[in-house]
Amino acid sequence: MQNSDLFSGDYDSDKIANNYFKRYARFFESSQEKKIALLELGILHGGSLLFWRDYFPSGTIVGVDISLPKDFKPGERIHAFEGNQADTVFLSQVAKETAPDGFDIIIDDASHIGELTKVSFWHLFDHHLKPGGLYFIEDWGTGYWDDWPDGRSLDKESYFQTALRPDQSESREPMPCHSYGMVGFIKQLVDEQAANDYTRKRQSGKSERGSKFERIVITPGIVMVRKAMQMP
Ligand SMILES: C[S@@+](CC[C@H](N)C(=O)[O-])C[C@H]1O[C@@H](n2cnc3c(N)ncnc32)[C@H](O)[C@@H]1O
Repeated sequence: MQNSDLFSGDYDSDKIANNYFKRYARFFESSQEKKIALLELGILHGGSLLFWRDYFPSGTIVGVDISLPKDFKPGERIHAFEGNQADTVFLSQVAKETAPDGFDIIIDDASHIGELTKVSFWHLFDHHLKPGGLYFIEDWGTGYWDDWPDGRSLDKESYFQTALRPDQSESREPMPCHSYGMVGFIKQLVDEQAANDYTRKRQSGKSERGSKFERIVITPGIVMVRKAMQMP
C-alpha cells in the first residue's frame, strides 16, 4: 500500500484526523522497510497499532493500555498487553517478551499525565530503548489545560509581563515559566539535553557527563527524543 493511502486510511485513531501519522512518518522514512520493534503506550480502539503494522511491513508492533479494548484482535505482528504505564515491572516484562534487544521506537500516547509519563519515559528510555532509538511523547499540551487533571491554563497577560523584565538582566531570579503536568515534564527534558553544561561548575570547567539525548525536537503536540548512541 502507498503511504498516501495509509495516511487517509480507515484507521480508528485520532492520528488520522489530526495528521499525526503523517508527521510521525517524517521521522521514520529511513526505517520503514526495516525489522523494527515499536511500542505504543495507549491503545484505545487499536487503530494506531493497525496503522503501524501496515506502515512497517516487517515491524513488530506492541501496545500497552490500562484497559484493553474488548473487540480488538491483535493478530499478525501485533501484541497487546493490559497494564499501567507507570508500572515499571510490567513494562520490563512486556519488553522482555516482545523486544529483548530493545525497541527502536516508543510512542507515549497514554495518560498524558506528567508524573506517569515521566515514570514510563525514564524507565523505558534507560532500559528498553536501543541506542539511537526514538522516543515520542504525544499531546504534551495537556499541561496548559485547566480541565486536565494536572494542567493549568497559562495566564498570558501576567506571564508575559513578568517574563519580560529588562531591568532584571543581572539578577539571578528565575525566568517565570509554566511547568504544570506534561509541560513541566518536557521542560525537565530540556535540562537533560543540557547535561554537558549543568554538570560543570563554570564555563571553563570540565563536564561530569554529556546528555543521554542526541537531540530533542519539540513540535506542537509531539516531542521526539533521539537516544544517544553511547550512554554517558
Ligand atoms: C489517546 S488514547 C490512545 C489512542 C491510540 N494511541 C490511537 O492513536 O488510536 C489513550 C489511551 O491511554 C490509556 N491510558 C490512560 N491512562 C493509562 C495508564 N496509566 N496506563 C496505560 N494506559 C493508559 C487509555 O485507556 C486510552 O485507551
